[in-house]
Amino acid sequence: MVIPLPHILAIPFPAQGHVIPMMELCQCLVSQGCKVTFVNTDYNHKRIINAMSSPAHIEDQIHMVSIPDGMDPWEDRNDIGKLLETIKRVMRAELEELIKNINDSEDDNITCVLADETLGWALEVAEKMNIKRAVLWTSAAAVLTLSFSIPKLIDDGIINTKGVLLKNQMIQQAPMMPFTKPENLVWASIGDATTQRIVFETMSRNNQTVKLADWILCNSAIDLEPAAFALAPEIQPIGPMLATTRLGISSGSFWAEDLSCLEWLDQQPQNSVIYIAFGSFTVFDKTQFHELALGLEISNKPFLWVVREDIGNGLNHAYPDGFLDRTESRGKVVNWAPQQKVLGHPSIACFLSHCGWNSTLEGVSNGVPFLCWPYFADQFVNESYICDVWNVGERFERDEESGIIKQGEIKKKVEQVLGDDKFKNNALSLKELAMNNAMQGGQSHIVFNNFIDWLKA
Ligand code: UDX
Repeated sequence: MVIPLPHILAIPFPAQGHVIPMMELCQCLVSQGCKVTFVNTDYNHKRIINAMSSPAHIEDQIHMVSIPDGMDPWEDRNDIGKLLETIKRVMRAELEELIKNINDSEDDNITCVLADETLGWALEVAEKMNIKRAVLWTSAAAVLTLSFSIPKLIDDGIINTKGVLLKNQMIQQAPMMPFTKPENLVWASIGDATTQRIVFETMSRNNQTVKLADWILCNSAIDLEPAAFALAPEIQPIGPMLATTRLGISSGSFWAEDLSCLEWLDQQPQNSVIYIAFGSFTVFDKTQFHELALGLEISNKPFLWVVREDIGNGLNHAYPDGFLDRTESRGKVVNWAPQQKVLGHPSIACFLSHCGWNSTLEGVSNGVPFLCWPYFADQFVNESYICDVWNVGERFERDEESGIIKQGEIKKKVEQVLGDDKFKNNALSLKELAMNNAMQGGQSHIVFNNFIDWLKA
């Protein structure tokens, strides 16, 4: 009798920082003999296919399908509150229909739904259809334990039952864990009051739906966050395997990667270049954008800067007067970089980052020190790991009067991180510690193998 392959239906939250790690995990699953159907929203599916140089390459391995997200093409998908509500309302029924169609038409039925933790409704669909379930949490374990601790935050009087802040008291869940100011809690640092309420309600609800999953996989490593994993042993680490997994093919980028920057990096001295990238979401206003440009100019180091076309209203054409000419000999600007390859390049000296978790793990996996410029959501927790727990980077201080990060502050912190070997040495030690988890016999490797056994059982 031929035993059918496990057929996993993977569904990421429809944002770049979630699609990439889910796709990387699916590439690992395929390499272990699983079949994967990968569900994007129609909107993201088009972007990914357009951005890929050879879509057939990835579709050989992973069956890419899509369903509507319920928004019109021109609507703002960076409005997280609206996106969360719409996808829950529309995608739930679409997902159920999709699974029914697959199971009616294919010999190999879906055997497991692997959903982003933030899509609790996908787990409910799987439960209703009697399909086994796993979730992927794409941020630090400490952020998930912080979400699990919502009832305690309410008991301690730090927030009320609607997530509104009551007390300005620094939060540390356990020794050796990051510090969080209440205003930097995930929901409290996103958008307006309505968005904050929707994010808080979603997180509270997901604390319940996650219990429907047999596996809570987390893109982190036990040695990076021992205290967080001790707080919630049900969270299973599988990182940083994913941060080094792209196998030379796209992992679902929404923009085409500009590979010319790799040749440019080849021409720079070893350990000299500042790499600046703010992930897929962050936007700038003109004053701050100019100040960053001028900070890079006066720092007088080679730099590779990712300026997405949507970094701010027309901002990618609005550098300070003469900036591009003056820095032409030592600076390169791209729309979207092959980030994992960039961070692994020997010419990179440090990573000026918004501290998204994927960026954080990718920097850690390559032994690169950080300059931290967080904006919202989990990024402050990640900054605290980098600066307070792992000691592999420095944070920027904002100017008290204007609230912006000034060019002088940028120069000062660049000099501090590049001028003190402590940061690079710590980053190299952390890399070794983290990567051991993904090696044969490492905790993440063991968890991943156990997960595969469960899928095949
Ligand atoms: C979002 C949140 O901001 C982040 O905090 C959360 O942890 C996940 O969702 P994003 O802002 O896009 O993600 O940041 P990040 O998590 O760092 O993910 C960005 C991904 O895009 C990384 O995998 C990075 O390698 C990739 N990237 C970024 C590129 O491939 N090229 C680039 O030029 C920039």
